[in-house]
Amino acid sequence: MIFLLKMRKRTTKVLAIETSCDETSLALVECRGPLSSPKFKVLKNIVSSQIPVHRPFGGVVPNLAKREHLKNLPVLLRQILKPKASSVQRQVNCVAVTVGPGLEPALWTGINFAQELAAKWNKPLIGVNHMEGHLFSCWLPKSHVSRVPRPVKIKKLGILNTNRYTLNAQIKFPAIALVVSGGHTILLQMTSITKWKVLGETLDDAAGEAFDKVARMLGLPYPGGPEIDKLAKRGDPNAIKFPRPMLNKKNYEFSFSGLKTAVLYHIRDLNAKRLTLNAKANIAASFQAAVIDVLVQKTVRAAQEFKAKSILLCGGVSANKKLREELNAKSYTLNAKFIVPDYEFNTDNAAMIAAAAYIDILQKNEKKLPLSANGNLTL
Ligand code: KG4
Ligand code: ZN
Repeated sequence: MIFLLKMRKRTTKVLAIETSCDETSLALVECRGPLSSPKFKVLKNIVSSQIPVHRPFGGVVPNLAKREHLKNLPVLLRQILKPKASSVQRQVNCVAVTVGPGLEPALWTGINFAQELAAKWNKPLIGVNHMEGHLFSCWLPKSHVSRVPRPVKIKKLGILNTNRYTLNAQIKFPAIALVVSGGHTILLQMTSITKWKVLGETLDDAAGEAFDKVARMLGLPYPGGPEIDKLAKRGDPNAIKFPRPMLNKKNYEFSFSGLKTAVLYHIRDLNAKRLTLNAKANIAASFQAAVIDVLVQKTVRAAQEFKAKSILLCGGVSANKKLREELNAKSYTLNAKFIVPDYEFNTDNAAMIAAAAYIDILQKNEKKLPLSANGNLTL
């Protein structure tokens, strides 16, 4: 703990590990600044996606994910340790690892790997909540302020970024945060970077899950969100009037399973011959419009009620172009600053885990999450 307190005075280099689902990711992030304006420089953020492995199964297979993480982790560590392992090791102040929520066999591979590494290097190890990672991804640097070379593609490994400079995202409070991923849909009211209240969550499917399931109904590959996003561009969002679940309820809860069923019935009622590419595009666009309508309207209502100065959007679904555009436009009319991470930090990545670990360090490691996998950890 004395070590952690000392680290507050200067920059802190965090080596973070993320293995909660189907992305193996390692990042090296330089962190500095107090809780009022934390700053991050993402030195490396390597994501090795397992999508091609899970795609034939239409979703993530936990044991395959575990096997792939085990295979990828040492490879990614070697990339992180370049060009000189001993100097990277010396610079690292602490190791951070996602402990939940997620698939437990997948989480354990990251935790075990992190424990071994931290013990070997004699560095402290911090357990991180994956959803806090998504939330704090809003504080990660924006590419438009970085004057750095384009990301370098590493064969089969995804993307490696170097020397990305940070910017205080100027997030003002009170803020409303919409956290939308494959497993969660959460609306948060934030009064500071460390104080928040969950206003509402999904009662059934998460937004990303609904995207994935509808994509599957349309015969699109996993993961479905980006596929629907792409196909929807060719369709008419007003072609089919799908329901907007929970929109008229005065609470901040969400529900997407009814909408998913409405899409299923619509597809069933069209006979297979009429399920042309054009029809599929109209379904994708209309479904996406329904999800976005609910997400945006509830977020706007919360922003008005709590007089938000900032609106934050994060989690994998925040990569959705239309959702970003609409929430951005609404934030403008509300005179609230709209914050969304760069695309690279929307879906799972370890840079966001490093950011969350640093926020935890600034709070004197007060959360102290146990270093064991917790599939159901909440915000
Ligand atoms: O945050 P994330 O990478 O993993 C979880 O923590 O769950 O989110 C993955 C989810 C998937 O359901 C995926 O389909 C969805 O995010 N997603 C999208 C888009 N990109 C990813 N959903 C809608 N539009 C996108 N462009
Ligand atoms: Zn995630």
